[in-house]
Amino acid sequence: MESLKVHREQRKIIVTGGAGYIGSHTVVALARAGYHPIIVDDFSNSHPYVLEGISNVIGYTPDCYQINCRDLKDLNNIAKDHPDIQGLIHFAAYKLVGESVKEPIKYYENNIDSNINVTKFCLEQGIKSIVFSSSCTVYGEPDKFPVSEEFPIKTAESPYGRTKQIGEYFFEDCIKAGLPLNVISLRYFNPIGAEESSEIGELPLGVPNNLVPYITQTAIGIRETLTVFGDDYPTPDGTCVRDYIHVSDLAKAHTAALDKLIFESGDDSSLEYFNIGTGRGYSVLEIIRAFEKVSGKKLSHKIGKRREGDVPMIYADPSKAFKELGWRAEFNIEEALEHAWKWELKLRDLKLKKTG
Ligand code: UFG
Repeated sequence: MESLKVHREQRKIIVTGGAGYIGSHTVVALARAGYHPIIVDDFSNSHPYVLEGISNVIGYTPDCYQINCRDLKDLNNIAKDHPDIQGLIHFAAYKLVGESVKEPIKYYENNIDSNINVTKFCLEQGIKSIVFSSSCTVYGEPDKFPVSEEFPIKTAESPYGRTKQIGEYFFEDCIKAGLPLNVISLRYFNPIGAEESSEIGELPLGVPNNLVPYITQTAIGIRETLTVFGDDYPTPDGTCVRDYIHVSDLAKAHTAALDKLIFESGDDSSLEYFNIGTGRGYSVLEIIRAFEKVSGKKLSHKIGKRREGDVPMIYADPSKAFKELGWRAEFNIEEALEHAWKWELKLRDLKLKKTG
């Protein structure tokens, strides 16, 4: 492990969307592992505080470029400061499922264009190693569980999901064409929680769409009641089942993916997919109960209608990531929820002004 750290030393990795939720935790994971992360973010869905939080964890503020990835010229300018970039992790994307249904052009334009641009940038700068931020949404509504990487890509439920599928097809075509790239697509299940130190975490702008920030905001009194979207699904307790993964575990999967790309790839172009989940599904009601246990608070909630586009159940078979990347989730659900709660309490004290 230590010897790998020496090899990683000073290797510069661009993290697009590095000031976002998963991006910021990945910057921390990279720095801890000995890589040299460089943040690229347009701050359209992130807060300048994030840089301070990262710095509090790793002891320095990484270089940060306020750039939109759709601007190739701006991207290329980074290489003037850093001609020796070794890899790129591409997070920068819009990610709200509901918004994507209402504003497909915004999603296709931003997510697809930036994908193409960062790839052009890598090709122009001779950067071979790319980690693409994908989602379990590419599996649509699976027939069997747990879901493994060989499962077919099915119709995505939203334009957001389609942009992730198109991203994967795009890289597939680049590799078929023999472009000099080694790509790993990480298919995330449901990231939750926050850095154990509570220095960084999720900063949802406005009303959260995702379950866990909605729970923590309800518990702290920002929201009145959590609505459970449907209890008549064909699942053990009728509520939807998901594979919730601690964001810091998810972040470490990126270090493992980069290690494979940088130290193990041969001369040939390559593309590989990995599920990044825990392998265990929890229902919405189980999450509520686990949260009540770790926070010691009763959570006000009611059963509502199903939310359009929700699949009843999905959880990962993460064994390929363990076999080939040596990665597996370490935090359990209680720890993930406890860290999410501690972060919500910290946010109350921080009183950040909203941006965006
Ligand atoms: N839920 C509620 N009430 C809420 C919010 C969510 O009951 O207020 C339920 C949802 O119905 C779902 C579960 O909690 O059953 C998890 O919902 P999230 O919105 O937290 O997460 P999703 O599984 O819908 O979405 C996640 C990612 C997306 C990705 C998708 C793929 O956030 O980026 O998985 O399935 F596209």
